[in-house]
Amino acid sequence: MDHFDWHQAKAALDWQRELGVTDAIGEDPINRYELPDQIAKPKPKVAAKPSDVQPTPVPVMRTDVIKAAESAAKAANDLVALRAAIAAYPHCDLQKGAKNLVFSDGTPDARVMIIGEAPGRDEDIQGKPFVGRAGQLLDKMLAAIDLSRGDGVYITNILPYRPPQNRDPKPDEVAMMMPFVRRHIELAAPDVLVCMGNHSCHAILGKRGITKLRGQWDQAMGKPVLPMLHPAYLLRQPQAKKNAWADLLSLKSWLKET
Ligand code: URA
Repeated sequence: MDHFDWHQAKAALDWQRELGVTDAIGEDPINRYELPDQIAKPKPKVAAKPSDVQPTPVPVMRTDVIKAAESAAKAANDLVALRAAIAAYPHCDLQKGAKNLVFSDGTPDARVMIIGEAPGRDEDIQGKPFVGRAGQLLDKMLAAIDLSRGDGVYITNILPYRPPQNRDPKPDEVAMMMPFVRRHIELAAPDVLVCMGNHSCHAILGKRGITKLRGQWDQAMGKPVLPMLHPAYLLRQPQAKKNAWADLLSLKSWLKET
């Protein structure tokens, strides 16, 4: 790398990031089986004295940043203004590491509003929710009940920015973005919300345990809510697709009857 100048090194790094490289490792492979002495062995567990036990840190919810989000969200009178308000909101650190704000996709006045968790790599690059592998599966699931982004469905996420390495959303990140999600629901005014996965269900319904919650109609923000298995989960656990199919049929008949 000595022959690279700064710009070439930066271009090489950007190229690797585009390819999906997330960790810096050495140029040469290391056979770790040949390094037994250097591998830290787990220390034997010693019973902790009561005085050594530290309380689990409770995340501090900053009421000032939540209040700032509430007033910014309230001031937005349409979806364009809401998107701009999120872009201008300075307290969500995820914004610094994200390529794009991921606001929504689909038909804004649709009857069904799908709420996912947070953008992943593809969504961050394209600035649209659910465009990666999970999104392609979601599109197929919707098509199976005659719905699509162009007809009947509007899609957003709890977090508008990709968390680093696709880690789980943190409680304080969710708390500060929820006023925008609530306003988003008010402005889009769907007939029904579909919460995809645990994080979405927890943020909207205050409940966890998606494998139990899925398919059980609930109520939040004055709307019926259908919790569903996240398509990323279905890609890892294809045997659960039968449950997702049952939930899709339940959504279809709800839409027909209501
Ligand atoms: N998973 C989500 O929850 N949302 C996306 O936009 C993509 C993947």
